[in-house]
Amino acid sequence: MPRPPTPDEAALFTRLGQGHVAMRLLLMAGRLGLVRLLADGPRGAADLAAATGSSPAVMPRMLRAMAALGIIEAQADGRFAGTGVLDLIDVLLVPGFDETSYTAWEHAGHSLRTGEPAWDQVFGKSFFDSLDAGQSDAFDLWNTATAASLAPIAAMEFWSDFHHVVDVGGGQGRLLAEILAANPDMEGQLLDRPESLRRSPELLERRGVADRCRLVPGSFFDEVPKGGDAYLLSRVLLNWNDEKCVAILDTIGRAAEAGSTLVVVDLLIPPPDHPAYCFAVVNDLNLLVGFGGGSRSESEWRRLIETGPFRVTGVEMSPPPSMMGVIFAVREAGR
Ligand SMILES: C[S@@+](CC[C@H](N)C(=O)[O-])C[C@H]1O[C@@H](n2cnc3c(N)ncnc32)[C@H](O)[C@@H]1O
Repeated sequence: MPRPPTPDEAALFTRLGQGHVAMRLLLMAGRLGLVRLLADGPRGAADLAAATGSSPAVMPRMLRAMAALGIIEAQADGRFAGTGVLDLIDVLLVPGFDETSYTAWEHAGHSLRTGEPAWDQVFGKSFFDSLDAGQSDAFDLWNTATAASLAPIAAMEFWSDFHHVVDVGGGQGRLLAEILAANPDMEGQLLDRPESLRRSPELLERRGVADRCRLVPGSFFDEVPKGGDAYLLSRVLLNWNDEKCVAILDTIGRAAEAGSTLVVVDLLIPPPDHPAYCFAVVNDLNLLVGFGGGSRSESEWRRLIETGPFRVTGVEMSPPPSMMGVIFAVREAGR
């Protein structure tokens, strides 16, 4: 006989069941421009309805629901104010996290049956091949913005052991720029798709490291620059299935000399009582549906990386607020 749910279980069920509506309201707050509209202070529902071309009858209901969820704040005088949650919204307004993610998730059964990304089936192309110029730019800016959480990784002591870091799939270069800034004698090479590197000169210049960083447009499935004593793969392998990861690791293995280090910054599934556990295992499925990739446990990382010419020498969780793991491996001779 099933037992009746506890009040906590019933409340959780309701919250989960409304999850897609909550997410849609977050996206709507972003699409309506509420961050900008509330930047100068609280505003009333009628005012916001007029400013966004919304129905004056529906707007108060929508704002009330957003406030109940904590997206905005309802004030005693009936007006609505912004919150820190609202300020984060740009992070969602990019392909793979916005409405496109819903479209892909409608076909999640395809991923469940085949292990293939539903995205490719829905949009007819892989994620990176399906981005138009504007979407590619938005995705690159998203990577740059969210790479702020990787700052503690750039500050880690071990970087000072290296003179030349090759950042493979480094996006616009925010993490590499931070690593170079913290290590004034280090040189860097930044490899990514040509379109992702368009804004890199500006970013590297702003951080004062442009003269120590060479840009390498290309594909990590074709060729990776030689000469690094460290090769960095940050948030790259999470986008790919094991077969593609092995191909990327092989390309790096062909460029890296014996004894050089591979540093993988990626989603590491920690033990279930770790604060990052839920994020890692839920994101795992989003990565499967969108890219065919996923989060990996320590033993999965070891097996995957050691399929190629690298031997894992250490695995750790990065310092907060990043919820990434850092995996160290060495290029072995003769493999
Ligand atoms: C999730 S982003 C991570 C960016 C950066 N490493 C970071 O941690 O912020 C994945 C990166 O892989 C790049 N990428 C995808 N396919 C690629 C390919 N075939 N060759 C090189 N880079 C690629 C994307 O352009 C993107 O910048």
